[in-house]
Amino acid sequence: MHPSSTEILRPDPDGLARAVALLGRGDLVAFPTETVYGLGADARAGAAVAGIFAAKNRPGFNPLIVHVPDRRTARRYVVWNDTAERLAAAFWPGPLSLVLPLKPGHGIASLVSAGLDTLAIRVPAHPLAQQLLRAFDAPLAAPSANPSGRISPTTAAHVLNGLGGRIGAVLDGGACAVGLESTIVGPQGAGAVLLRPGGLAGERIEAVLGFALASRSDRSRPSAPGQMASHYAPKSSLRLNARSARAGEVFLGFAGLGGGLNLSRAGDLNEAAANLFDHLHQLDAQGQAIAVAPIPFTGLGRAINDRLQRAAAPRPERAARQAR
Ligand code: TXA
Ligand code: MG
Repeated sequence: MHPSSTEILRPDPDGLARAVALLGRGDLVAFPTETVYGLGADARAGAAVAGIFAAKNRPGFNPLIVHVPDRRTARRYVVWNDTAERLAAAFWPGPLSLVLPLKPGHGIASLVSAGLDTLAIRVPAHPLAQQLLRAFDAPLAAPSANPSGRISPTTAAHVLNGLGGRIGAVLDGGACAVGLESTIVGPQGAGAVLLRPGGLAGERIEAVLGFALASRSDRSRPSAPGQMASHYAPKSSLRLNARSARAGEVFLGFAGLGGGLNLSRAGDLNEAAANLFDHLHQLDAQGQAIAVAPIPFTGLGRAINDRLQRAAAPRPERAARQAR
């Protein structure tokens, strides 16, 4: 795409209507939030979400934050608790994301949470983000609207510099007021974990909670490596670049290889990305080792291979057990 093929939409009813039309057909639209510009896609559409990773050229799949217009809508997608209620009442709309368990029947594409059973969700305060979410009437998955490894954009011009020609449009809402990504908190039981410092100071959160936030390192003890806060890994072992299943294995196919579960019979890497975590979950539930067909290292194939290689690598827990 030529850089000029990315539409610049004005913050008026026509601009919003065009943004909604583009999102509705699976295109990507960057939009302003009070923190940074987000690169939005319909969070229910796996292929659209896969497009986010392709446009950003991300070498791996990180879970994304879902944006909704209000607390009531958030509660459709995640299992709510008292701590979440107190934080949302105090800070939403605003620069705070909450990580909570996904609710059954949530309808969010599995690529959004990178296969985790939790979801990061927030209610942005920027008026244009609010208008877009209400007009689109569906949750938007949105990471910061910059190419992977570059700094987060706080103006529409920054977005165009980084992603011009790679996305459908940018909704121009001027400069972002906060300029730092949202603070991410995981309310758990009686406590809460600070998963990422950001635009809302931890002290303000602690003042509302009346107790200290735990830090992520308190939690990622080596006793639970498969439970790392931000990575889903199958319980079963994985064998890569397999042509077929051996005895005791189930097969995950790609393109012409594999007549059962197949990431994309057409060999389409975006489709494969959209299916990746769903298919791994399905095969993992069968409790057998998983053999995976070769995936090309082009486009989203890099991120797919990155995730498969991490899943195939010996985990500390497994290695320790084997050493005993
Ligand atoms: O301010 C913001 O948060 C911006 C605007 C656009 O809303 N978005 C943003 O998204 O910063 P992104 O993709 O750049 O960062 C998302 C962060 C990642 O660090 C990811 O690991 C974490 O959220 N995250 C998402 N889902 C998670 C989950 N289920 N558990 C733990 N961490 C999660
Ligand atoms: Mg980012």
